[in-house]
Amino acid sequence: MSLYESFLRPLMFRMDPESIHEKALKAIASGALRLPRFDDPRLEQTLFGVQFSNPLGLAAGFDKNAVAIDHWKRLGFGFMEMGTITYHAQPGNDKPRLFRLPKDKGLINRMGFNNDGAHALVPRLAAARPGIPVGINMGKSKVTPIEDAAKDYQESFKLLQSLGDYFVVNVSSPNTPGLRTLQEKGPLLEILAALREVNGEKPMFVKVAPDLELSALDDVIEVAHEAKLTGLIATNTTIGREGLWQDPGEAGGLSGRPVWEKSNRVLSYFRKAVDKDMILIGVGGIFTGQDMFDKIKLGAHLCQMYTGWIYGGPNTAPRILKELVDLMDRDGIKTLDELRASG
Ligand code: FNR
Repeated sequence: MSLYESFLRPLMFRMDPESIHEKALKAIASGALRLPRFDDPRLEQTLFGVQFSNPLGLAAGFDKNAVAIDHWKRLGFGFMEMGTITYHAQPGNDKPRLFRLPKDKGLINRMGFNNDGAHALVPRLAAARPGIPVGINMGKSKVTPIEDAAKDYQESFKLLQSLGDYFVVNVSSPNTPGLRTLQEKGPLLEILAALREVNGEKPMFVKVAPDLELSALDDVIEVAHEAKLTGLIATNTTIGREGLWQDPGEAGGLSGRPVWEKSNRVLSYFRKAVDKDMILIGVGGIFTGQDMFDKIKLGAHLCQMYTGWIYGGPNTAPRILKELVDLMDRDGIKTLDELRASG
C-alpha cells in the first residue's frame, strides 16, 4: 500500500469530495507535486498524426477548465482531455453533486458541466505549455434548447479549434437533461455535420454512454463511418446501479470499478464492428496496469482514467505504466500494436 493509500487517502476521504477535488487541483496547478515519470519506448505511438509518449490519459471532467494543464505530464500522463466545456459558462447542478462509494471503488457525480465556458478557455489554452497532447471535450450548454445543440457545439469548436490536438463530442453525460438523446442517429449526424462545416482537419471523436443497447451502438458506428470520425471513446459513466455494495441512492453517473464491465462491453463491440483505422479510446474502471493491459487487448489504442486516480493518488500513472510494461515483458510483447493484436 502506498503512503497515499494508507495515510493521505483516509484523511482526504473524510472531507467533502468536491472541496478536496478543488484543493488537489490547486496543489497540482501550483507545480508542488514532483514525481518520477515512467517512460519506455514500448509505450510510444503515433496515432492520427499525434505523438503519444504513453497511452494513459487523464479522462475528461478532472481538469474541466484546464487550470492544471501544464502539470499532467509531470504526473506521468501521456495525454489529457480537458472539459467538458460548453459554449456558455455555467455553474452546474446544486451541491452536493459528487459522492464516494469506497466499498465499490466508485464515484457518483451529477456535476452538470460546471465550467468557465469556451470563451474563457481561449487565452488559457493559448498560454498553456502542456508538453503532451490535449483533447478538448465539448458539451451542450444547459440554456441551449436540445434542437439547437448542433449550433452550440459548432460555436465552441470555432473558438477552440486551433487549441487542441483532438476534439470530443460529449453526448453521453447523464447530467444534462436530454443530452444522451443526441446519441441517436439523426441528432448526432446533425452535430457532426455542423462541426465538419467549420473543421479544418482536427481529429474528431464521439464519447458514448455504457448503457446503450446494441442497436444504438450500431447506429453510433454507422454515424462514425458516415461522418468520418477519427474515433470513439468508450465510455462515460453509467446510470445503472446493479451489483453495488453501497448505493447511496444519489442520482448521477457512476464511475470506477462498477463501470468496468459495461465499458468493456462497448469497447469490444466497437472493435469488432468498426473499420480498422478507427481509433478507440477505452475508459472506465482502470485501476491497475492489468486493467490497461486488458483494455488494450480488447481493442483500445489509448486509455483514460479518472476514478482510479482518486483512489490511487498522485503516483498512479507511473505505477500503472510500469505494471503494463512488466506484463508485456512477461508475455514477450514488444509493442502496443502487438498487444492489441493479441486480443
Ligand atoms: C466525469 N466524467 C466526465 N466525462 C466527460 O466526458 N465530461 C465530463 O465533464 C465528465 N465529468 C466527470 C466528473 C466526475 C466527477 C467523474 C467521476 C467523471 C466521466 C469520465 O471522463 C469517465 O468517462 C468515467 O468516469 C469512467 O472512467 P473512470 O472514472 O472509471 O476511470
